[in-house]
Amino acid sequence: MKVLVVGGGGREHALAWKIAGSRRVESVIVAPGNAGTALEPKVRNAPVAADDIEALLRLAREEHVGLTVVGPEAPLAAGIVDRFVAHGLRCFGPRKAAAQLESSKRFAKEFMQRHGIPTARHESFTDFSEFRAHVEAHGAPIVIKADGLASGKGVVVAQSVGEALAAGEAMLEGDQFGAAGNVVVAEDFLTGEEASFIAMVGVDGAILPLATSQDHKARDDGDRGPNTGGMGAYSPAPVVTAAIAQRVMTEVMHPVVDGMRAEGVRYYGFLYAGLMIDADGTPRVLEFNCRFGDPETQPILYRLDSDLVDLLDAALDGRLGKSRADWDPRPAVGVVMAAGGYPGHYRTGDEITGLPAAGLPHAKVFHAGTGVDAAGRIVTRGGRVLCVVGSGASVREAQREAYRAVDRIHWDGVQFRRDIGYRAIARE
Ligand code: AMP
Ligand code: GLY
Repeated sequence: MKVLVVGGGGREHALAWKIAGSRRVESVIVAPGNAGTALEPKVRNAPVAADDIEALLRLAREEHVGLTVVGPEAPLAAGIVDRFVAHGLRCFGPRKAAAQLESSKRFAKEFMQRHGIPTARHESFTDFSEFRAHVEAHGAPIVIKADGLASGKGVVVAQSVGEALAAGEAMLEGDQFGAAGNVVVAEDFLTGEEASFIAMVGVDGAILPLATSQDHKARDDGDRGPNTGGMGAYSPAPVVTAAIAQRVMTEVMHPVVDGMRAEGVRYYGFLYAGLMIDADGTPRVLEFNCRFGDPETQPILYRLDSDLVDLLDAALDGRLGKSRADWDPRPAVGVVMAAGGYPGHYRTGDEITGLPAAGLPHAKVFHAGTGVDAAGRIVTRGGRVLCVVGSGASVREAQREAYRAVDRIHWDGVQFRRDIGYRAIARE
């Protein structure tokens, strides 16, 4: 079988690598892919943008692709699954109506309210003076979110009323966020420890939780500095104990799938709940993503012993309830190496040196923003450039393996955190 992976980041490199490892897969096409996917055995890139749904459809039909897996949110929100299914193609991901769980924060908050899913209290606004009155009455801290997709830049955790007002004004009245900022959600500030809970959902509503993970969203060590798309992640996340995972399934994941069905929408695809877990172990939803996480995918799939294609097929055939995922018990730590300046303006085109020529025994370099220049050199092409995953008997050892590989790789301006996994290491 031929499999198409839509996207070109680290998540898609990990998906393509894992899918190519299936004995049932003859080849994997990644659209558009990156330098890492181009070099992966059984994998090739197709120069089609991840949001060009008509071109992706043509590609899938011409190549007789048997299964498509969608990495990023934009094509899901634009209805790629609906289009593919209308043409009789198998495509794993939520339909457009279901993807609203990620593409509209207001939709997600109101959906959670309707179905009793634990989350911070919130109000939505389209009018700045009403927003201002609410923020002034509420006080700080308060969290301000642009309704639509904003690549992680649409959330401001405001420590003062002034900061909250400035954020809301920029979203509602500025043009930086476009239509994504026409509605603003203001919600209570939650405290605790964050974790990512990601599951596969089948067409029949069966839910297979994947290994737990934790992302590091701040740019700098100790979770300081600006918010990013994610500077590293590890799996499993000990903060999510078996008891908490069970609560998340009962209080969050099942109510999402059941609530969607009650509203006439079948949710299937990856389902990602970003959680805040308080001191009592109560999970509350910060956000939903209708896709696999990036960089969580990289350490999670590194640990997956089962055949991912079998699980994807089971989900699309309504057999996921009878499937199980087997995991390497050893933890995996993924360190993101980013271009200088990221998450602000960053430079591209720098040559990356020190990339391992062959596979490493306890580590794997997943590419994200990389490309090959006219001289055949691997160069930086994005903000998050690589995610280096290490595996070991403990999180500390996995971290050591990851940084052992990281320390050999270089380009001008490279930046990365030195402490990925520190919360889990502190618990060891
Ligand atoms: P989101 O994209 O909604 O997950 O928000 C991005 C980040 O903002 C989260 O990972 C949290 O660190 C923070 N955040 C979002 N909502 C809240 C909240 N209600 N309370 C505290 N922190 C939050
Ligand atoms: N790592 C966070 C995300 O994928 O949204």
